[in-house]
Amino acid sequence: MAYETILVETKGKVGLITLNRPQALNALNGQLIGEVNTALDGFEKDAGIGCIVITGSEKAFAAGADIKEMQSRTFPETYLDDKFEPWDRIGQRRKPIIAAVAGFALGGGCELAMMCDFIIAADNAKFGQPEINLGVIPGAGGTQRLTKAVGKAKAMDLCLTGRLMSAQEAEHSGLVARIVPLADLMSETLKAAEAIASKSLPSVLMAKEAVNRAFEVTLNEGLRFERRIFSSLFATADQKEGMAAFAEKRKPDFKNA
Ligand code: CAA
Repeated sequence: MAYETILVETKGKVGLITLNRPQALNALNGQLIGEVNTALDGFEKDAGIGCIVITGSEKAFAAGADIKEMQSRTFPETYLDDKFEPWDRIGQRRKPIIAAVAGFALGGGCELAMMCDFIIAADNAKFGQPEINLGVIPGAGGTQRLTKAVGKAKAMDLCLTGRLMSAQEAEHSGLVARIVPLADLMSETLKAAEAIASKSLPSVLMAKEAVNRAFEVTLNEGLRFERRIFSSLFATADQKEGMAAFAEKRKPDFKNA
C-alpha cells in the first residue's frame, strides 16, 4: 500500500506509524485517518507485531483535525457523515498502541494521542483542546477522555479557555505516562514498545482490556472481570513458561500460545 500522509515501518516486533503532513503540522484529514486505520489493520493482522507506536514530527504530533477540510461543512453533512467513525476505530484496537508526542498535540491531535493506550511525551510537547476558539467543541472524544484522564477541573479549564498545557503539566495531571528529552523520544518509546512486544501477546491484550474495563464498569464488576481474565490465562502455555522461567532463573520464551 502506498501511503501519502503517513510513513509505516516495522522495527522488530514493533509497528511504527509516523504522521507525515509537515506542511499542515500533521493536521488530521480524512485521508490520513483512513491511512492510519489501514496501517493499523495490517499490524493487527501481523502475528509478528506485538506493539504499535504512533508519532509525528518534532514540531507537531498533530495540530488537530484539518480545519480547512471542515470549515464549509453544514450540520446535516457533519451529522450524517459520522466523520469520526473511522477515528473511533483507532481507539478500539486490540494491540497496545503508544503515542510518542513531540510538539503540538492539539484538538484532534490530543484526542488521537488519548485514543492510544498511553502517551510518552517529549519535553517540548504541548497538549490542548482549543476547539472553543473555532466556535466548536472537541468532537473525537476530547471532552470524555481528557476528563477521565485529568479530572473535571483541568478538563473544563482546557476545553473552555482553549489554553495549552505543557508536557510537565500533562504529566502531573495524569495525561502523560512519562516525559523524556526530545532527542530521546523515539529511542525511549521504542524501548518501551519492544518491552511490551517481548511479553506474551494474550496476556498483553487481556491486560489492556482489563485496564480499559475500569473506565466502563463499576469497581465490583471490574474486579470480577479481572479475576475471570486472570484465571483464564492459566489455560495458556505462556503462563507455564513464564512461571517456570522465573523459578529456573532464566528469561521466558513466550510463544503467544
Ligand atoms: N488544520 C488545518 N491546517 C492547519 C492546522 C489544522 N488544525 N493547524 C495548522 N495548520 C496549517 C496552517 O494553516 C499553516 O498552513 P499554511 O502554511 O498553508 O498557512 C501550517 O499548518 C502551519 O501552521 P501555522 O503557520 O499556524 O504554525 P504556527 O507555528 O504559527 O502555529 C499552531 C502552530 C499554534 C499549532 C497553529 O497552527 C494552530 O493554532 N493550529 C490550529 C490548532 C487547532 O485549533 N486545532 C483544533 C482543530 S479542530 C479539531 O481538532 C476538532 C476535533 O475535535 C477533532
